[in-house]
Amino acid sequence: MSKILFVGAEVMPFAATGGLGDVMGSLPTAIRSADKNCDVRVVMPLYSAIKDEWRAKMETVASFEVKLAWRRAYCGVKSLVKDGVTYYFIDNEYYFARKALYGEFDDGERYAFFCMAVLEMMDKIGFYPDILHAHDWQSALSVVYLNCLFRWRREYQNIKTVFTIHNIEYQGYYSKDILYDVFALGNDCYSLLEYNGCVNLMKGAIVCADIVSTVSPRYADEIRTEGYSHGLHYIINQNYHKLRGILNGIDYDYYNPEKDNVIAANFSADELSGKATDKNELQKALGLPENAETPLLAIISRLAAHKGLDLIAEMVYNLLENNDVQLVVLGKGEACYEELFRELQNKFPDKARALIEYDRDLSKRIYAACDIFVMPSKSEPCGLSQMIASRYGAIPVVRETGGLYDSIKGYWEKDGELMGNGFTFANYSSAELYDRIVAAVALYNDSEKRKAFVTKIMNTDFSWNISAKKYLEMYGTLI
Ligand code: GLC
Repeated sequence: MSKILFVGAEVMPFAATGGLGDVMGSLPTAIRSADKNCDVRVVMPLYSAIKDEWRAKMETVASFEVKLAWRRAYCGVKSLVKDGVTYYFIDNEYYFARKALYGEFDDGERYAFFCMAVLEMMDKIGFYPDILHAHDWQSALSVVYLNCLFRWRREYQNIKTVFTIHNIEYQGYYSKDILYDVFALGNDCYSLLEYNGCVNLMKGAIVCADIVSTVSPRYADEIRTEGYSHGLHYIINQNYHKLRGILNGIDYDYYNPEKDNVIAANFSADELSGKATDKNELQKALGLPENAETPLLAIISRLAAHKGLDLIAEMVYNLLENNDVQLVVLGKGEACYEELFRELQNKFPDKARALIEYDRDLSKRIYAACDIFVMPSKSEPCGLSQMIASRYGAIPVVRETGGLYDSIKGYWEKDGELMGNGFTFANYSSAELYDRIVAAVALYNDSEKRKAFVTKIMNTDFSWNISAKKYLEMYGTLI
């Protein structure tokens, strides 16, 4: 039986802020369903955001002291089992009882403690994985600590490591002055972590891991280049022999329009009438004209420039002025974009709504209600929203980058047959985005084609079925 330990900073449904949490919450279960012989476990911090309903189900399985340079800190390990996967929660109130998951002044120290605790935990609970699978910069040190500080212990000698990059933009870099003081590493380890004169945790994990993976094949190629690597392309290229790209899937139980109980009406690819009800209910709730035939466009995104919002800003006035469409935006982020959408709502009260918040249930109601989903990212390691939108019968309009490129193929017609599963454009240009949205609207306005295309995209398989097997194959090459 192979034993896999996932290490990450957020896991659905316990605590999450974005796509990493979705993947950490659904991939382990998918791997377990694909191979019942796999013992899959997951470890994350016990944040104060984790609700009492989960805490009530946990039991304490260990408590010990973690040494981090000159510090001695308490560490409790709590655990629960869900759908055949064992979850561990690293408890230390000083580090994890904070208002937000991240963005604290001492994030470097918090995740250094987390990673050190994860490695100590193995001894305390007597679980030594065959594969330690760490995700993003917050867990990068678990791979580095294993190699630098734990290999002398017999049980740790054969542990193999996979490091998955969900977004190369966030690397965890710090002054080299705190290498020992915060990260508990001596100068002998500096060369592993050093990048441009700083300590770079992601770089350290890339160098130390047996395999480095990322969340789509296209992104694996893109991060070899300066335009996408946020400075790390030299390291990626030096380690290219161990780089893999595996496309994410989504949780088909959690995102299921046939059973979802937060949407107004359920529907399926064969029976779409519930989707019309969902649209009507959302229009009513938002005070938009309740017009069934006006295409409803949606953007659900962190409001950040790399999500392509500067392209939206350039063309959205033109779009709303000259087309019979409605637009709903859900998300928060950079002030200039929050302001843009608020202004848009003022200028087009019958056409635009700005919901400047983060609300998972509301996002599902919007996915279920909207006809066209717009996602023009400048870079997108994988992206899950285009898959969720497809599952809820919204036509995606995306830029051909990263996982968007791998999951959505542009619409065209071959002998009357509808090809592709969305609308795509290559250049980072607002004119191309405008053109593709208008093309999607034209398809929507043809009711025959609309029905056929929506059915087709809802039937596209974005479950974990294929990718979970690819992860198993990848683990198999190491064990
Ligand atoms: C990050 C990426 C996103 C990806 C997600 C899960 O949030 O930005 O593209 O889908 O991680 O891997």
